[in-house]
Amino acid sequence: MFRLDNKVAIVTGAAGGIGLACTELLAASGAKVALVDCQADHLAEATKNVQEKGIAKGYQLDVTDIPAIAPTVSRIRQELGEVDILVCSAGTNIPKLAQEVTEADWDTILSINTKGLFFCNQAVAIQSMIPRKTGAIVNIASMFSLVGGPKRAPYCASKGGVAQLTRAEAIDWAPYNIRVNAVAPTFILTNLTRGYLSDPEFKAYVLDNTPLHCLATVGDVAAATCFLASDEAKMITGVILPVDAGWTAR
Ligand SMILES: NC(=O)c1ccc[n+]([C@@H]2O[C@H](COP(=O)([O-])OP(=O)(O)OC[C@H]3O[C@@H](n4cnc5c(N)ncnc54)[C@H](O)[C@@H]3O)[C@@H](O)[C@H]2O)c1
Repeated sequence: MFRLDNKVAIVTGAAGGIGLACTELLAASGAKVALVDCQADHLAEATKNVQEKGIAKGYQLDVTDIPAIAPTVSRIRQELGEVDILVCSAGTNIPKLAQEVTEADWDTILSINTKGLFFCNQAVAIQSMIPRKTGAIVNIASMFSLVGGPKRAPYCASKGGVAQLTRAEAIDWAPYNIRVNAVAPTFILTNLTRGYLSDPEFKAYVLDNTPLHCLATVGDVAAATCFLASDEAKMITGVILPVDAGWTAR
């Protein structure tokens, strides 16, 4: 397995499902990890757990608070060191038919999933990666970055945006040796999806549309993310990697 010794990593959305799994694998692989999340209590608990596996520190930040992003990155650099890896997992969804979506729904989803993610990418690139001409960014996109899905118009728009900003950043920041990639998972049972994945009819719909007939796990996404963040992926940039058991192969 690849090693990430002496690397400093930031993970947003680190107190929940996929972000937490990425944080745990990064720490177990030797990286010092800054856990970033907006939920103070979950963040404290997650940080304590990750500290049992390696070096970790928690930072409370709402990624929609754009002016607060740069000072948080600055604090992390002072306390843990210059940032080599950024994983952006903070995200949300409000499943609704397109005709029922309100402006507030749209703004909530796009401001976290796309705008907040972009300005986290930018702050870390400006402060730590562009000046040192090195870095790896992995954005947690979705298979709905690549195909449409039911009751997901703003979510699909937000994640399609993540795919496109990932590709655009890969081009802009290649001269600085910064690789920017995304992973595009299928459905995973987390707090985000528990509401509808516990509906047997919906779960059957998911499995029937998945060639490998399974859900993904947070560990599947963490493994792909840590690979893309590692030097073993040094030839890979601008890629949206499906971790979807074949959903988008159809
Ligand atoms: N679970 C799935 O099926 C699935 C599939 C594909 C993609 N994704 C994506 O993976 C990412 C993580 O999803 P998850 O399933 O782990 O969700 P989750 O709800 O379990 O965890 C998300 C974490 O992000 C944090 N967060 C939310 N808004 C934030 C904000 N404004 N600022 C800082 N932190 C914030 C939450 O507090 C939580 O800890 C999301 O971007 C989601 O869209 C999830």
